[in-house]
Amino acid sequence: MKLLHIDSSPLAANSVSRELTRRTVAEWLAAHPGTTVDYLDLAVDAPTHLNADSLGFRLAPGTPGLTEAQRQENAVSERLVSQFPAADVVVVGAPMYNFSVPTQLKAWIDRIAQAGRTFRYTATGPEGRPATRR
Ligand SMILES: Cc1cc2nc3c(=O)[nH]c(=O)nc-3n(C[C@H](O)[C@H](O)[C@H](O)COP(=O)(O)O)c2cc1C
Repeated sequence: MKLLHIDSSPLAANSVSRELTRRTVAEWLAAHPGTTVDYLDLAVDAPTHLNADSLGFRLAPGTPGLTEAQRQENAVSERLVSQFPAADVVVVGAPMYNFSVPTQLKAWIDRIAQAGRTFRYTATGPEGRPATRR
């Protein structure tokens, strides 16, 4: 079993959501000791916001003429969009900042929201895809 633990608060040791995710993950591990944990701290390792380079993942694989910056950003997107469905359990620290989630968390969501990877469009609207390991 694999658990992906994500924090997004920029408040470091003063963060309430970080304490909540820490406790949640600790309780999960106590009940499921075989679990391996992947940790993603978006306050220190956030992808850039979507821009002309980081939107490159929307191009077909192997599209010729990508710039070095686009190739690097595509690699970041690929790392994140692969990591997410590989987890059986995902714990996300998502505090409310200005009526939404922290900008770091939105930047992560923008990288993993990929049609055909983490969701698909259906006649009745978008549908999330189940984890790949199940
Ligand atoms: C810049 C900023 C914006 C905030 N915006 C909201 C808000 O829109 N709604 C709300 O209920 N709380 C808001 N809060 C309060 C936070 O949700 C609260 O402090 C929470 O504990 C933050 O999580 P953290 O401690 O893990 O960073 C805001 C706090 C900050 C610092």
